[in-house]
Amino acid sequence: MAKTLPDPAVADISLDRVDGRTKVTGAATYSAEYQIENLAHAVLVTSTIAKGRILSIDTKQAEAAPGVLAVISHLNSPGIPGYGQAKKPAERAPVGTSFRVFHDELIYFDGQPVAMVVAGSFEQARYAASLIQVKYQSETHQTDFSANLAKAVVPLNVQRNKNSPFQDYNRGDARAIETAEVKIEAAYTIPTQHHQPLEPHAIIAVWEATDKLTVYDKNQGVKSTQGNLAQAFKLPRENVKVISRFIGGAFGSGIRVWPHTTAAVLAAKMLNRPVKLVLGRELMFTSVGYRPYTVQKVAIGAGKDGLLKSIVHEGTGQTSVYEEHLERTILASRAMYACPNVATRYRLLSLDVNTPTWMRGPGDATGMFALESALDEMAFALNVDQLEFRIKNHADSDPERNLQWSEKTLKECYQLGAEKFGWDKRQLQPRSMQSNGMLVGYGMASSLYGFHRHPSLAKAIMLGNGSVIVQSATMDIGPGTGTAMTQIASKILGISPKKVRFDLGDSSLPDAPGQNGSSTIPSVGSAVHVACESLKKKLSELAAAIPGSAPDIAYADILKFHKLPQIEVTEESKSGPERDQYSMYSFGCHFVEVHVSPVTGEVRVKRVVTCADVGKIINYKTARSQSIGGVVGGIGMALMEESVMDHRYGRYTTTDFASYHIPVHADIPQIDVHYIDKPDVYVNPIGSKGLGEIAIVGVAAAVANAVFHATGKRIRELPITPDKLI
Ligand code: MOS
Repeated sequence: MAKTLPDPAVADISLDRVDGRTKVTGAATYSAEYQIENLAHAVLVTSTIAKGRILSIDTKQAEAAPGVLAVISHLNSPGIPGYGQAKKPAERAPVGTSFRVFHDELIYFDGQPVAMVVAGSFEQARYAASLIQVKYQSETHQTDFSANLAKAVVPLNVQRNKNSPFQDYNRGDARAIETAEVKIEAAYTIPTQHHQPLEPHAIIAVWEATDKLTVYDKNQGVKSTQGNLAQAFKLPRENVKVISRFIGGAFGSGIRVWPHTTAAVLAAKMLNRPVKLVLGRELMFTSVGYRPYTVQKVAIGAGKDGLLKSIVHEGTGQTSVYEEHLERTILASRAMYACPNVATRYRLLSLDVNTPTWMRGPGDATGMFALESALDEMAFALNVDQLEFRIKNHADSDPERNLQWSEKTLKECYQLGAEKFGWDKRQLQPRSMQSNGMLVGYGMASSLYGFHRHPSLAKAIMLGNGSVIVQSATMDIGPGTGTAMTQIASKILGISPKKVRFDLGDSSLPDAPGQNGSSTIPSVGSAVHVACESLKKKLSELAAAIPGSAPDIAYADILKFHKLPQIEVTEESKSGPERDQYSMYSFGCHFVEVHVSPVTGEVRVKRVVTCADVGKIINYKTARSQSIGGVVGGIGMALMEESVMDHRYGRYTTTDFASYHIPVHADIPQIDVHYIDKPDVYVNPIGSKGLGEIAIVGVAAAVANAVFHATGKRIRELPITPDKLI
């Protein structure tokens, strides 16, 4: 079943990106690049304290600077209708209030927008912004996670919702750990990490009338952005148009509508003029969320027979004081392995920071670092092979929900990955392998990611010449959505992909979910599938009505005979009862070889083999690129990425690529990608599960495990920098 090369029987299995040429020739228009007449440019002024209030804002000099059209702040903002009236004196927002830009004088975090300069050019706006003098009254802030850990609490969201998955969880009796023959227990720390798409967030806001808005905005959901802006500005949904056709990467940072977007829309309204706002790299650290700082404790008990007896997984993540951001941190421990006794706890710590958000593999990338590091440690304690240990504790059905898996080919992944990697050449003992004076380590880890499918519409239009346009308000943040959808359509209709055009990234297209949670192929792919099936059925009915027509009559001739300029269908696809009858997950595993310098502690990743069980692969080329991207992100998480804050000021000191390190080409070795490619018949009509997120889940653990094997040092605090190894 396993295929690692394109199947020649399906010619289009590795179709080149349909928009590849457009992108590499610079013809693709990104949000900040739309040429709009009379465009004004906005620059934000942000808070330099982490908590307190604004006493005054002196804008006189800025207003007199060349080209300045307006300086906007809470002092002159007419208010965002959806926020309600600002209270006087201002009161701190209750938990659950999205940050309200220019609402009042209160400061919640360093980097908070406090004013915005709009001018005729970007340079004029930036210069004028430097002239604004803000006086603050500071209050003592708390931004240090470790120093405040004792203040972590059960999230309000969980207290109020007894069905929350984040309720304390107990299966069996986790106290079994006390009597287990072998026990390990440790804490794991993931620092704050920031999504670093090459394209920063950007928006152009254009009001065509006082009640009609168009935005060209970088985001991961045109429909959700449309809904959010309609609500904020109290407009009918259909009066808001959101365009986001090309996106230069987004790893969760575009799932929400952030304050800068609302601010630009407000400015355009106040000035009655199109306004563009682009976040500089520095503002990407405080404007669009991040992977939260997280501390986890994992305790595992096992018998000498190599079977897991008990897992206790506790996780605490950071959030802001005004909003709770919860993520799956501890959930994987309930479903990943067959283990009779499992307990999980999840807590949140509110700090004077902006709200975190989803970042690739949210929760699971964090949780699986801890769980898979602990599994590795336990295998060493039991003196069994890491892979054998995982196979021995494989969950044949979902132990959390007591359901059969819809499909699970993790064992095949283990086998294929191990074979391609040469896992059998590993010597079990740490520090037992060397090459050219470097310590050599082999490590592996499993991965899982939940299955997400949302109701989705697609429209399929056949034109008189037999070509097809398929439309859905879905997105492409990079994985190649249009390419995969083109393939699905071309395959069903039996026409060349060249005769298919797929439209996305426009809120006026048929309703579809945003691109998040690895849900696009499962949701929108299914809608495209059913829309094209329905179009095909309609065409064969029309063909049947043609007297004496041949079975292979061309589509164009069918339309011509019936004198139809075009025909179109719109179909919806959503989950059926199978969703509750089976447990649905993507699975996978990663194998990593590292070389570590015993002198400097430098870690070089030499080889990665990654294998995923994600159901049917639609396009091997784009899928492979997505898996490679996930592994690169995982290597960054393991070895480099860390947003460092100076807690004296509550301010990030890493605000550019010189200080926030992500892997470059020289850091990335050969990444060998494999799929089992077995359709999952229960998830949806196309048999595909999600791939985007699982590509990163477990990678950091596989690297850390390889580092342990090389050096004998177990690093539980990411990133694994040389100072931690010497
Ligand atoms: Mo993904 S974190 O849902 O973009």
